[in-house]
Amino acid sequence: MPLDLSKLCIRWFSFKNHEIEVLKFRNSIYVEEQGVCESLTKIREDEDAIHLGAWYDGELVSSISAYILDANSALLREEVCNGELSLRYGMRMESSSFRGSHLNSLLCNWLCKSIFECLRPVRTYVVLYPQHYSLQKFYEKRWNHREYKKHEEQVVLMCDDEKDRLQQYLESRKSLARLKQKYFSSVELPDLSGFLFQEGREDLIAYQSLMRENLYTEGLDVELDLPRLCAQAQQLYATQKVFIHKIQKIGKIQRWLDVGSGAGAYLNLLSRDRELENIEFSGVESASLLHQIAQKKFPDIKWYTGSAYQTDFEHASFDLVHCSFLMIHLLCPSLALAEFNRLLRTGGVLYVVDVYDSSFRGPEAMSKVVQRHCEIYEGDRNIMNHLPELGRQHGFKPYLEYNVIVSSEQVEVSEDDLNLVLDKDLLLDMFDFIAQRESLVEEYASAKKSCKTSSEPVSVSIQTQLFIKV
Ligand SMILES: C[S@@+](CC[C@H](N)C(=O)[O-])C[C@H]1O[C@@H](n2cnc3c(N)ncnc32)[C@H](O)[C@@H]1O
Repeated sequence: MPLDLSKLCIRWFSFKNHEIEVLKFRNSIYVEEQGVCESLTKIREDEDAIHLGAWYDGELVSSISAYILDANSALLREEVCNGELSLRYGMRMESSSFRGSHLNSLLCNWLCKSIFECLRPVRTYVVLYPQHYSLQKFYEKRWNHREYKKHEEQVVLMCDDEKDRLQQYLESRKSLARLKQKYFSSVELPDLSGFLFQEGREDLIAYQSLMRENLYTEGLDVELDLPRLCAQAQQLYATQKVFIHKIQKIGKIQRWLDVGSGAGAYLNLLSRDRELENIEFSGVESASLLHQIAQKKFPDIKWYTGSAYQTDFEHASFDLVHCSFLMIHLLCPSLALAEFNRLLRTGGVLYVVDVYDSSFRGPEAMSKVVQRHCEIYEGDRNIMNHLPELGRQHGFKPYLEYNVIVSSEQVEVSEDDLNLVLDKDLLLDMFDFIAQRESLVEEYASAKKSCKTSSEPVSVSIQTQLFIKV
């Protein structure tokens, strides 16, 4: 039966708030599957586990859980170390009338993706009972788990390799995009970090590893990229200038924070803009080299080092938080949004500018390599497509959207948008970051070459989204 998506609600939940409902649901599945009415009691780790469920017309119909393992867990021996997180995925269940609906698959992929982004477990396990032995190959192939041990009647599969976990994550992201597009387009998927804050369990969030991360600088010679960043800042300023006066109309803006401010070129241009007089500009940047360059070149602006995920600024200390070309480089954008929300006063403005790969238009070979890179890039290069949904979950109301279509030939754009025509070679050079991926070097070189000689134009959109903190 086709699902009526308006009746579907997906939520993270804690066991204590839904205990009776969950046990009833588990028992019903158990009776269905085993044909025996045997009460399935809760397990020791249920209280601390992270549960994800789907409710249809108010009834729990599908669920999956991530159990936090500690030294007392029967499954483990010496693996549990202080400060490291090990998880077991389990209690994957679905009412029979929903089999084939892909609902449980949606939950599994969302759980895996969210857990990787926020929690970074060092090991994940799956336990197979005899009736599910046949799934071993599937878990090995799709979920990168390998056999770890046999324990009584159970086969325990484990994934403890960093590369495998990243691969698991990228696959989940891909599957989710497909499932959303095909079956669940209007279904809102709940953010895990928001749930953890609400439950007072933010201690689970892997702040330490998240704060060390910088996907932009990884594998890049930052100094070599400076001229490109500088030119980009000039172009960005030229295209945002026509729009900036609208911001002052939203409310009084005095304290402006730029997150991921790089070497400071863009913030410096803004700070000299007459329309933005009387604003106090600050920039925060996680790469110390870039922070130092900014400090040296533009000493009139206040520069700080820090991560988008957690800064040292006081609550509500800014009227506007701005970030350009940062969001696509974050592995956990929702956590950054939580921090931006904390930093802004009520009614304050979140101002995000970024490119998104799904807007790329050009010859097939080039489109393909752009998409391939997007799929393997750890950050989300299409974040702008779902930023409004994510923003809403973090207390932001979408206010305005504005596109700059950068193209090799003039294109028609809507009244509110702008077209920036660039020399085709220059525009294509903007994609040279793709060649940083060894697996794409050759494909990119050949796509770029044929694209240069093709008569087909090339274009990509840079989008601005403004939000108000409610
Ligand atoms: C593509 S550059 C953009 C720089 C600048 N915003 C601009 O528009 O010219 C991305 C910047 O974000 C910084 N960055 C990356 N991850 C970050 C994080 N988690 N927290 C703060 N800054 C980060 C990078 O070091 C880099 O300076």
